[in-house]
Amino acid sequence: MASPLLDLDFVRGLYPATCWEQAFFENAGGSYVPQSVIDRVTTYMHETQVQPGADYPASATAAERIANGHRLIAEMIGAETDEVIIGPSTSMNVYVLAQALGALFEPGDEIIVTNLDHEANIGAWRRLAERGLVLREWAVNPDSERLQPEALDDLLNDKTRLVCFSHCSNILGGENDVTAITRKVHDAGAMVCIDGVAHAPHRAIDVKALDADFYLLSLYKLYGPHVGLLYAKRRHIERAPGQNHYFLDARIPLKLNPGGPSHEFTAALAGIADYFEALAAHHLEQPPNTFKARVDAMFAMMTAHEETLATRFADFLLSKPNIRLLGPKTGAAEARTPTFSFNVQGTPQAEIPKRLAESGIAIGRGNFYAPRLLQALGITNEDDGEGSVLRASMVHYNTLDEVERLMKALDAVI
Ligand SMILES: Cc1ncc(COP(=O)(O)O)c(C=O)c1O
Repeated sequence: MASPLLDLDFVRGLYPATCWEQAFFENAGGSYVPQSVIDRVTTYMHETQVQPGADYPASATAAERIANGHRLIAEMIGAETDEVIIGPSTSMNVYVLAQALGALFEPGDEIIVTNLDHEANIGAWRRLAERGLVLREWAVNPDSERLQPEALDDLLNDKTRLVCFSHCSNILGGENDVTAITRKVHDAGAMVCIDGVAHAPHRAIDVKALDADFYLLSLYKLYGPHVGLLYAKRRHIERAPGQNHYFLDARIPLKLNPGGPSHEFTAALAGIADYFEALAAHHLEQPPNTFKARVDAMFAMMTAHEETLATRFADFLLSKPNIRLLGPKTGAAEARTPTFSFNVQGTPQAEIPKRLAESGIAIGRGNFYAPRLLQALGITNEDDGEGSVLRASMVHYNTLDEVERLMKALDAVI
């Protein structure tokens, strides 16, 4: 029956039953994969164990399956297929992009990076200093624990070529106003490279509406296999020097994808589409006509459910005097995704995930490859000598009951 609320039994039934043997709160590290994705990988590898693109039937089918996965994932984010590169990971995709743009920029040109992002969207750009590019840092405000858009005004100038920032922090869970920031950067004559990895599992994306020049996501956090997606405006791909074999320079977008995509995993991206279609068919009384609109409608329902979980958990964390919650002090969806990082005073931090694991509850601990952010927020003196946080991250398939179990177990440990 159609319902405005997510039918969690139905949602969870689309995943292997073993997923639910633990209460899983490390989704920001990598989400679960529905059976539809597993089936697509298996089918590809059973039936099309050949190189795609030749004339014999199995090869033609392989090529069709890869093209289909590529097309559907592009459609899901509002992009044209030839603007989407499927590479091994976001870190690798940024690295390749930085090599390409680095060759295009002149010594003395400026790039702005943050100290809030995952290192994937910082380090590869910082390396371009070796080629004479000037790197500037848009620093997180340690009081608001946000990137203040007005702080960009002092950094942008007529030498700025690119501003790299994230849609959402993988530590803080806080969302940035990508549209406003992008407009500001474009007005200054520069491009934006947006890390959407921590945002994508929670919200619909439309890269055209955002007017993003470059946008990245890690599909293994978006209910898919372990590959990364780079969106780039077509004219930027055309202009960028090829990073693949020289004779592929005219092949868009393959010129920016050295090694080419993983065949079975690109084909299996269609399994993410299968998943959203199954959710839409079950939940939407009058499903919209386009795949993209059905995906967007499902994300709206997921956000509403996630906000209920997030509000409950934020209230719990904020009620504890010995817990420091990082990022927005609310569960409201307009401010944050349900990724919560926190520090606990009075209990050795390394003990906490271990103790929770004994109760069948999985949370994360570490710097999550964002050490610059932790340092900027003064989180440096943890018991193991390096700054780290505890992180409990939820997505739409988590239940309120799991959140209650997490809170109860945390209460007992701290
Ligand atoms: C926000 C964010 N950006 C980038 C990455 C890096 O992604 P990948 O593992 O695909 O390189 C991660 C991974 O945790 C992340 O959370």
